[in-house]
Amino acid sequence: MQNKQVSEILNLKEEKNAVILAHSYQPPEIQDIADHVGDSLQLSRIAASTESGVIVFCGVRFMAETAHILSPDKTVLLPEPDAGCPLADCIEVPALRSMQELYPDALTVLYVNSPADVKAESYACCTSANALEVVESVPSDEIIFAPDRNLGTFISRKSDKTFHIWNGACRSHAIADLQDMKVRMKEWPDAELLVHPETPPEAWELAHAVLGTGGMIRYIGESNAERFIIGTEEGMIYRLKTLYPDREFTAGGNIYCINMKMITLQKILDSLRELKPVIELDPQTREKAYAAVARMTKATG
Ligand code: 13P
Repeated sequence: MQNKQVSEILNLKEEKNAVILAHSYQPPEIQDIADHVGDSLQLSRIAASTESGVIVFCGVRFMAETAHILSPDKTVLLPEPDAGCPLADCIEVPALRSMQELYPDALTVLYVNSPADVKAESYACCTSANALEVVESVPSDEIIFAPDRNLGTFISRKSDKTFHIWNGACRSHAIADLQDMKVRMKEWPDAELLVHPETPPEAWELAHAVLGTGGMIRYIGESNAERFIIGTEEGMIYRLKTLYPDREFTAGGNIYCINMKMITLQKILDSLRELKPVIELDPQTREKAYAAVARMTKATG
């Protein structure tokens, strides 16, 4: 039986013509009520194409901002306005401009985990799912990659282009506990270890594959393994168990993002009732950021 809070959310969603989008790191009860659960790229695509007038974004601020950049005529709600991203906070416009002055021939590829005004100063955005494709599509052999140094390093090893990499990191993935991964591998010797490219290179060396969350889902679908150790934010375990009830999953590396856990059912309910907090950007920033985000969506069809 649905609890009262959930049925109220579902009723209000109909009444307000809203769609609920949730990142795969969100808590189980949020994933369960969402219309779509996905990675950053999938959710951006859905935000760009939805017919709903209201998008309730269950994730962190840069994700909701990207939805607003792509769909400025929709009302984008972030039920907890303080759900931020320490990686996005690693970069600001003046510092990026200084780096761009140092490397005038380079074009900037910016991970979407970044503020909107920095997107506005970049050539193209990317996510972990399409970073290599975006880098290869950019009309320069010299790239400034920001703000995640681990994703930048991972992609630079796969590309012949010259990279200048920003020294930022995800506070949760960058300190992944490698010892914990090794212990899990000993406990489950038949399992495959999948890690996110925001983890450090030492984790990639242990892993069977280095993938964003959408890539992990596809990889598991094609793998013959029955057990998997997942080296990304632990919310992903619930997502994988839902998608693959016949396989076994355990988290590896103790990767936990406190910001991803700030949204609650009550906050979604309040947000739908009051239609706030609304994500807003000044139109000039939004339009300039749109150019960078659109190059990302174009590069990957
Ligand atoms: P995805 O690109 O797999 O959605 O990951 C986003 C993210 O924020 C990782 O920390």
